[in-house]
Amino acid sequence: MPLIAPSILSADFAQLGEEIRAVEAAGADWIHIDVMDGHFVPNITMGPLVVSAVRRVTTLPLDVHLMIANPDRFIEDFAKAGADYITVQVETTPHLHRTIHLIRDQGVKAGAVVNPGTSLNTLEWILDDLDLVLIMSVNPGFGGQAFIPGSLDKIDRLRALLAVREAKALIEVDGGVNGRTAGAVIAAGADVLVAGSAIFGTADYRQSIARLKNADPG
Ligand code: DX5
Ligand code: ZN
Repeated sequence: MPLIAPSILSADFAQLGEEIRAVEAAGADWIHIDVMDGHFVPNITMGPLVVSAVRRVTTLPLDVHLMIANPDRFIEDFAKAGADYITVQVETTPHLHRTIHLIRDQGVKAGAVVNPGTSLNTLEWILDDLDLVLIMSVNPGFGGQAFIPGSLDKIDRLRALLAVREAKALIEVDGGVNGRTAGAVIAAGADVLVAGSAIFGTADYRQSIARLKNADPG
C-alpha cells in the first residue's frame, strides 16, 4: 500500500495550520512542501520559514521538494527548519554527488528529482546514495496539471533499475496523481504518491486520501 504525501501547494494558505492538521487526521503519511524560486520554475512559493511553521503543527515526515536554482545554498536552512527529506532536481546542480551528501551530512534523507524530459541515466552514479527518487509526472511549477502518461514507463524502468542494483531508494511520483491515475502509478511500482489538487479543495480529505491509497492497480 503506497504512502500518501499531500502537497500543500494546493492547500488554503489562509489557514495552513488547520489544513495540515486536517490531512494528518485524514490519514496522510507525509507532508509534501513545494519550494519554488521563480528561476528554475515559473512560480514562486515558499521557503524555510514555511517549513518551520509546518514543523510546529505536525509530526509527520516533511518531504521538501526543492525546485530552485543553486540548491546547495539552502540545504542547511531547510534542514534546520525541520525537513525530514530534501529532494533536489538533478537539472539544478552540476555536482549532484556533493549536493546529495550535503543533505545527508545534515542528517536528512536525500532524494533526487527527474523532470519528465530528464533521463534516469542521470542517477546512475548516485543511485546507491539516495533514500528517494522523485519522478515528476508533470512539468514542475504548478498544481492541478494533467498526468503525463509516459511517466508510467519511467516508474517501471526505475523500479527495475533499483531491483538490479539492490538499491534502497523509495520511488515517489509527483504531478497529476488522482483517483484516475493512482492505480496505474501504484502498479508501475511507486512507493509514495504526492497529490495536491486531488486532496486539498475536495469535500472529504479522508475519502480523497483513501481513494488514492486503495486505488486499484488493475
Ligand atoms: C509541481 C509540484 C507538485 C504539485 C502536485 O511542481 O512539485 O508537487 O504540487 O500537484 P497536483 O497533485 O495537483 O498535480
Ligand atoms: Zn512537488
